[in-house]
Amino acid sequence: VSERSAVQAGAEVLVASNRGPVSYALGEDGALTAKRGGGGLVSGLSAIGPATDAVWVCAALGDGDREAVRQTGGALDPGDTGGQRVRMLDIPAEVHAAAYNGIANSVLWFVHHMLYQTPLEPAFGAEFRAQWASYEAYNRAFAQALADEAAEGAAVLVQDYHLALVPGMLRELRPDVRIAHFSHTPWAPPEYFRMLPDDIAEQLLRGMLGADQLGFLTHRWADAFAGCCAAVVGGTGNTRIAVHGLGADAEFLRERSRRADVDERQATLREQIGTDPDGAPRRTIVRVDRTELSKNIVRGLLAYRQLLVDHPSWRERVVHVAFAYPSRQDLAVYREYTAEVGRVAEEINSEYGTPSWRPVELHVKDDFARSLAAYRLADVALVNPIRDGMNLVAKEIPVVSEQGCVLVLSREAGAHEELGTDALTVNPYDVTGTARALHEALSMDAGERAARTQRLAAAATALPPAQWFLEQLRALKG
Ligand code: G6P
Repeated sequence: VSERSAVQAGAEVLVASNRGPVSYALGEDGALTAKRGGGGLVSGLSAIGPATDAVWVCAALGDGDREAVRQTGGALDPGDTGGQRVRMLDIPAEVHAAAYNGIANSVLWFVHHMLYQTPLEPAFGAEFRAQWASYEAYNRAFAQALADEAAEGAAVLVQDYHLALVPGMLRELRPDVRIAHFSHTPWAPPEYFRMLPDDIAEQLLRGMLGADQLGFLTHRWADAFAGCCAAVVGGTGNTRIAVHGLGADAEFLRERSRRADVDERQATLREQIGTDPDGAPRRTIVRVDRTELSKNIVRGLLAYRQLLVDHPSWRERVVHVAFAYPSRQDLAVYREYTAEVGRVAEEINSEYGTPSWRPVELHVKDDFARSLAAYRLADVALVNPIRDGMNLVAKEIPVVSEQGCVLVLSREAGAHEELGTDALTVNPYDVTGTARALHEALSMDAGERAARTQRLAAAATALPPAQWFLEQLRALKG
């Protein structure tokens, strides 16, 4: 049907996503160092290597990646990928930037997370149209690579809003393959989705509907998608729609969080957090996020400040440990948000801090071992996104927690569908209500805290990543 790749001919199972399981840093001396990729999607999919013999097709994301593609022809060294077969695509940098920053992470991310609010408005003029052409080209590059790599009748599992057009394009190139698409984000309801120009809305939905099967993290997002299809293209046709709620990987997390580097980080954190006036370790409210508008970090800080105002008895006795790891810094709106997070944390520290107490410990350098250390010692976990496909942090913390940790959880996170009963639910826009929930969480007695944490951990690990992936594959092969 089409030209087969010389490097990895005829894969039976293929996965496609923008970000792959590995990224490369290019040293001054020209040496490459491989590093595990980040984000919920990669955590979910990193289980596929051991579970299947899949080929993972992804994009080169920086100079290091591009150099790795140049050296390997795109078939990465399995030594760098934990044994996973990876084909990395070197899409021209300006095409990738327009598709990834311009369309995927600006327009599509903002639509699905409903982040456009006056005065932050979308623009659909000439620049948007040029970026859209890049988004199409970028999707076509993936569709072509998948067509080249796939064996007759192969199963192809395409991931996320970056690649919404791939199912339709691949269907035309290779009518024989079975195609699934999975959305790791929310899906916008029709009245919001239709903010997109009509032809673009239609093209996106028709692209997705080129798949045999579409997966979403919750019923809410699946229903919203079906609602968009009904409104824009008259229905979902023959495409099956299914919900697969990705869970946390308990086995991996428990093993990883017991290692010495996590112990070390925990000791350092304990020292920074310090002790209260009675000499007991201070209580902690922990959050761990990419610095991202949808994560609502600033309102979380404001809620913490409100807690200190409404309940001065917590002063000197609690620390807000906030890890906010920089993300998508090519976009001005992300850079501004990152700066605002720092500004508000600083304000709280100068307003309420004392020589013996720093109310907010904000850390921005991504460090997985330190995140796990914070999970271990958390008394309260704050997960308050405006809107979130799932939110794996909400699922990971109860698994790793040593103290029994109260989860303060936004009702707008996908995880709320599964964890809502044992979490304290908040409206992410309601700062005062969130402050109230933080107080209730800090005041909860140890027995109830432990019991809730246990139930949360059980619910959070019901569908571990490998099973999540294999379920979809099974359904696709049906
Ligand atoms: C979300 C998306 C993923 C993405 C991750 C990190 O979870 O659903 O596809 O990889 O964010 O974002 P980034 O832009 O850094 O890949």
